[in-house]
Amino acid sequence: MQILALGALTVVSCLSILGVEAGRLLNYPPHVRTKRGAYIVEFESHVPSDHVSKFHAMPDIFVNHHYTKAFNGISVSTRSLDPIHLANVDGVKRVWPVRYYRPASFPPGASNSTDMYLHHVTGVEKALTELGLNGKGIKIGIIDTGVDYNHPELGACWKTEGCLWQYGQDFIGDKYTGANPVIDPNPTPMDCDGHGTHVAGILAGQGPEVHGVAPGATYGMYRVFSCPDGENTETADDIILRGLEAAHKDDHDIISMSLGSSGWPEEPLGVASAKLVEDGVVVVAAAGNDGFGGLQTTSAPAVAHGIISVGSVDNWNITAKQGIITSDQGSKSIMVSTPGNANYTFDFDSDVPLAFPDSNGANFNGCSKFSDDLVGKIAFVKRGDCSFNEKLTNAYEAGANGVLCYNNEPGLLGPSITVPVPIPFVLIGEKDGAYIADRLAAGSVSIKSPKGQYEIFSAETGGQMSSFSSYGPSAELNMYPLISAPGGNIWSTYLLKDGGYASLSGTSMATPYISGTVALIKQARPELSVEDITRLLVSTGKPITDPSTNLKFSPFRSGGGLVSVYDAIQSRVRFDPPVLSINDSKVGPINGDSKLTSLGTVRWAARTITICNHDSKKNMKISLDNMAGNSMSTFLANGSFTYTPRIWPSDATGNVPEDTVPQIYSFNGQKIIKPGQSTSVTVFIVAPKGLKDTENWYYGGFIDFTVQWQGEKTESKYNIPYGGYNGDYSAQKVLSPVSDGLPSILDDSTGNPIQDLSTLVIKENVTASLLYGLSMPSRLVEVKMVNSDTGESVGYLYNGYLEYVPKTCPQCAVPFVTTTIWSYASTDKEGKDTVEVPAGKYHALLRALLPRGDINNDNDYQVWKSGDFTVA
Ligand SMILES: *[C@@H]1O[C@H](CO)[C@@H](O)[C@H](O)[C@H]1NC(C)=O
Ligand SMILES: *[C@@H]1O[C@H](CO)[C@@H](O)[C@H](O)[C@H]1NC(C)=O
Ligand SMILES: *[C@@H]1O[C@H](CO)[C@@H](O)[C@H](O)[C@H]1NC(C)=O
Ligand SMILES: *[C@@H]1O[C@H](CO)[C@@H](O)[C@H](O)[C@H]1NC(C)=O
Ligand SMILES: *[C@@H]1O[C@H](CO)[C@@H](O)[C@H](O)[C@H]1NC(C)=O
Ligand SMILES: *[C@@H]1O[C@H](CO)[C@@H](O)[C@H](O)[C@H]1NC(C)=O
Repeated sequence: MQILALGALTVVSCLSILGVEAGRLLNYPPHVRTKRGAYIVEFESHVPSDHVSKFHAMPDIFVNHHYTKAFNGISVSTRSLDPIHLANVDGVKRVWPVRYYRPASFPPGASNSTDMYLHHVTGVEKALTELGLNGKGIKIGIIDTGVDYNHPELGACWKTEGCLWQYGQDFIGDKYTGANPVIDPNPTPMDCDGHGTHVAGILAGQGPEVHGVAPGATYGMYRVFSCPDGENTETADDIILRGLEAAHKDDHDIISMSLGSSGWPEEPLGVASAKLVEDGVVVVAAAGNDGFGGLQTTSAPAVAHGIISVGSVDNWNITAKQGIITSDQGSKSIMVSTPGNANYTFDFDSDVPLAFPDSNGANFNGCSKFSDDLVGKIAFVKRGDCSFNEKLTNAYEAGANGVLCYNNEPGLLGPSITVPVPIPFVLIGEKDGAYIADRLAAGSVSIKSPKGQYEIFSAETGGQMSSFSSYGPSAELNMYPLISAPGGNIWSTYLLKDGGYASLSGTSMATPYISGTVALIKQARPELSVEDITRLLVSTGKPITDPSTNLKFSPFRSGGGLVSVYDAIQSRVRFDPPVLSINDSKVGPINGDSKLTSLGTVRWAARTITICNHDSKKNMKISLDNMAGNSMSTFLANGSFTYTPRIWPSDATGNVPEDTVPQIYSFNGQKIIKPGQSTSVTVFIVAPKGLKDTENWYYGGFIDFTVQWQGEKTESKYNIPYGGYNGDYSAQKVLSPVSDGLPSILDDSTGNPIQDLSTLVIKENVTASLLYGLSMPSRLVEVKMVNSDTGESVGYLYNGYLEYVPKTCPQCAVPFVTTTIWSYASTDKEGKDTVEVPAGKYHALLRALLPRGDINNDNDYQVWKSGDFTVA
C-alpha cells in the first residue's frame, strides 16, 4: 500500500494554529482524487462577485476561473498556500479541493436494442405522434464528453443555420491525460469518448436507427471530459462548473448531466445546480450506478436540492449476438454478452462442444484447476466465487478455446477481463445457463455463434429497476431518485469511427430520457415552473412491480416509478407536495375515527395534501388507495448486515399479513373538486407493524389516486410516493459492520491486517493504515491519535478529519476509507500543521457523526477505539 509522500509534509511547531470552523474548509476522503493545490472557493450568496479582487491581491494565489452565473465563487490554484487562508477570507462560505469526476455509465457492449418498444411503453411515441410534440423551441444544454456532431443521425452539422447544435464549447481538449493533465480546448466539443454522443442520440436522434425523445429541440454541448485514457475518461469539478456556467449563460431551459460521484449536496456542483434551479432552469442528473451498495448510494450532484434525479429501468428488448445451442432437445437461440476482451470475440461459425470443468460435476464455477482436458471445447462455468479472470485462466490452462459463463442472477453484463489470455470469454443469462447445465448433465451440448449474427431478444429484466441503479434516500432521508427512465441496454448513436452505434447501460442513459421528456412538457406547457414540471413527472410516473414480491419497488429506489411522458404532458391535477418524505415518525395511538384508534399503538405520521383540479370546465372526482411498496432493511433475518437490502415481504407466495406493509388512511369514497379549485386532504401513513425497530427498515409506497372528470369515460391514475424510516433514524450506526472486517489496521509493509496491535511499533518509515467504512453517509468523521496513559489526544491521524463523507461499500466504487498511522499527528483539521508524536503507548480513536447529529455534541458520535500500539 502506497500512501505517504513524507517529504511533502512540513513538520512545524504548533505555536500559532490557524483555526477554521467546521463546514468551511472541507477535505475529501483520500479515495476521492483531488487536484493538488486546486480549490473551489464558494462565496456567501450576499457577497458581490467583485469580491474576487481580494483573491487577486493574495500572494501565491492564481484565480483560474471566476464563476458568476451558476455559482458565486472562484476556482484557484496555489503552489504552497495553506487553503485555510482562503477559508478565513471574509464572505467565504466554503472551500473545497477540486475533485475529479467520471461519467455515469458502463462500457459499451456489442449488443444493441431498438428504441421503438420503449418509446411505446413510456408514452414518448404518443406524445410525438398524437400531440405532435418534438421539443421545438426548447433549449437543452448537455454537460458531457462532447458530441460527434458529424453523425448523420445527429444532424451532421455544427452551429450552422438550422442545425441541432447551436450552442456549446470545449472546456478541456485532448491533452488532459496522465500525470500532468493540460487543459487545451479544441474549437468545438468533438467527442473522443462516445458517452456524450450516446447521450445526445437519446435526446436528439433523428432516425432512422435512433429516435430521440426531443428531436426538434435546440441543443448545446459543453464538453468537460477528457479523451479516454484506457477505459476511463475524466474531469474535475472546476471544469464541470465552467460548463454549467457557460450553459447557464446560453440560457438553456434544461441542463442534462449524466455524471456524478458519491457525495453530498453541499459540494460545489450541488450548490451550482441548486442555483440554476432557483433561476428557473430544469436540471436533470443521474442518480448513479452504485445500486450494488444498496440504500443511500445516490450520487452528487443528483442529491442537490431541486434537481430531478433519475434512476434506471432495464430495456425490454435487446439486440444482441446470437448463440445457437444444440442438444438432444434440438436447437435453441440464446443471447450472448459483449466479449470480456474485445480482441477475442466469441465467433464460432460451426458447432463446438461445451464442457464442464470437471466431468464429475464438481467445480461448476471453474474457480479451481480443471480436472478435465478441454482441448477443442468451450468451458461452461457459472459466475461467482472467483473473478472472471481466474475462470478464464483456468479454462485456458485446461486447453479450452473459449469460455461461456452463465450469470448467477437475472440480467446480463459485459464481463471485464484484464488478463492477456488469448481465448474469448462471454456471459449468458441465468435461465439459459440453467438450461444448458441441465442438457449437459444429460448428454452432449454444442454452441455456435457466427460472426455478425444478431437477434432481438426480450430482456428477462425488462421494465424492472436496473440492478446498478443507485438507491436513495439522502443522508437527510429525502426521497431520491425522483423518477426512473429506461437506462439498461440502450441503443443509441456512438462515435462514427467506432461504428456509429452502441448499446450502453447506466443512469447516464436514463437522464437524457427525462431531459427530453421535460422538453416535450415545456413545449406543450411553457408556463410551468421547474417545481410544477417535477410534480407532473412524479405524480404521473408508473410505480413498478417487483415480480419477487408483487408489491411495488420502493420509491427510495424508483422515485415516482417509470416516467409516463404522455400522461405528464396531459396532466390536469396538481399535487402538493409531490412526494411525502415521512422521516421517522411518532409512536402511539392515533386520535381520530374509530378505525384509526382501533389500530392501537403504531408508528405513524399525518400529512396534508393539496389537490388542485386544473381543468377549467369540468368537475373532477377523486378517490385514493394505498399501493404498498417493498420495505427494505440493512439486516438479514439472522442479524447480519447486508448491502443488497433485505426485502419484506421476501416471498410473495406466502400469506403476507396486511399490517406488515405500510397502510394509508384518509377520506373514504370520493371527493368532487370543482374546475380550477383545490381541496386539502389529510392522510395518515402507518408504518408496517411487525417489522423490528432494530433492523433498520425503510418502508414506502404510493398513494394511488383515481381521477375522473365529469362527462369523460376514462379514469386517470396519479400517485404520490411516500417513504419513511421505521425507527429512530438518528440512532442508526454509521460505521461499517464488524462483518466487513472493519475497522482494521494493516501493516503498510505487507498490506496484511495486524492481529495483535501490541506488536506494532510506529517509527520513522514504519507506518500502518487504519481502514474503516461507513454503512451510511456521515457529516463528520475524525480519527485521532490518543496517548493511552494520559488519555490525551496528540492530534489527528493523516487524513483523519473529513466532512460530508459518503457511504462506502465493498461492491461500490469506494469500498472503504484509509487513514495513516505514522509518527506525526496533525494539530489542525486540514492536516497542514503536524507535530512529532512523543514516544509512548497510543491508540486510534475513530468518531463518526450519527445521522442528523450535532457536531458539537459528543453523544452524537459512534466511537471506535483501537488496541494499544507503540510509537518509538
Ligand atoms: C445492431 O443491430 C443491428 C440489427 O438490428 C445489426 O445489424 C448491427 O450490426 C448491430 N450493431 C451492433 C454494434 O451490434
Ligand atoms: C420487445 O419486448 C416486448 C416485451 O417483452 C415484446 O412483447 C416484444 O415482442 C419485443 N420485441 C421484439 C422485436 O422482440
Ligand atoms: C488488443 O490488441 C491491441 C493491439 O494488439 C492491444 O494494443 C490492446 O492492448 C489489446 N487489448 C486488450 C484488452 O487486450
Ligand atoms: C426529519 O426530522 C428531523 C428532526 O426532527 C429534521 O431535522 C429533518 O429536517 C427532517 N427531514 C425531513 C426529510 O423531513
Ligand atoms: C446470515 O445469513 C447469511 C446469508 O444466508 C450468511 O451469509 C451469514 O453468514 C449469516 N450470518 C450469521 C451470523 O449466521
Ligand atoms: C526513511 O526513508 C527515506 C527515504 O526512503 C530514507 O532516506 C531514510 O534514510 C529512511 N530512514 C530510516 C530511519 O530508515
